[in-house]
Amino acid sequence: MYETWEELENSIRDCKKCKLCQNRNNIVFGEGNKEADIMFIGEGPGADEDSQGLPFVGKAGQLMNKAFQGLGIDRSKVYIANIVKCRPPLNRVPEDDEVDSCLDYLRNQVMLVKPKIIVLLGSTALKNILGKEYGITASRGNWITQKDILYMPTWHPAALLRDEDKKIEFWKDLKQVVEKYNEITG
Ligand code: URA
Repeated sequence: MYETWEELENSIRDCKKCKLCQNRNNIVFGEGNKEADIMFIGEGPGADEDSQGLPFVGKAGQLMNKAFQGLGIDRSKVYIANIVKCRPPLNRVPEDDEVDSCLDYLRNQVMLVKPKIIVLLGSTALKNILGKEYGITASRGNWITQKDILYMPTWHPAALLRDEDKKIEFWKDLKQVVEKYNEITG
């Protein structure tokens, strides 16, 4: 684990630890406040993220931004990252060997940000951070505490594009996050 952002960012710059490096245009490292109290973890970059090098800038990200605006979450005050930093072909779910190669970067990001709350966006984030025994349908909307971090699993924003009911649940889950943040930070 690296003690500084500079060291961590240098270590990933030319990453060839897994096959996802072959087709990437950009590594999507993550962005936001490096001292955020709230961190969001998605699955992996899509086409827009791969071309811009930034997380959640495509359609799903725009939907997430709308929820942020409605709930008073300032995107620049949170930190946003993904389970894998390079785009899986055709946006497929990252494979276990890809996740295994990449997850230390995210662990290091969490170690440096030291968030109080982590929002897990979708099944891939939930299963790879908290364990394969968790399912998103049963877990979403429920706080899970591990090692002093409060985790809120919720739907992946891309799922909202297909299902109006999930939009309402996503909104409710993020509302819980805002309330908890206000409660713990006074
Ligand atoms: N989906 C993700 O999981 N992450 C992104 O950055 C964009 C879309």
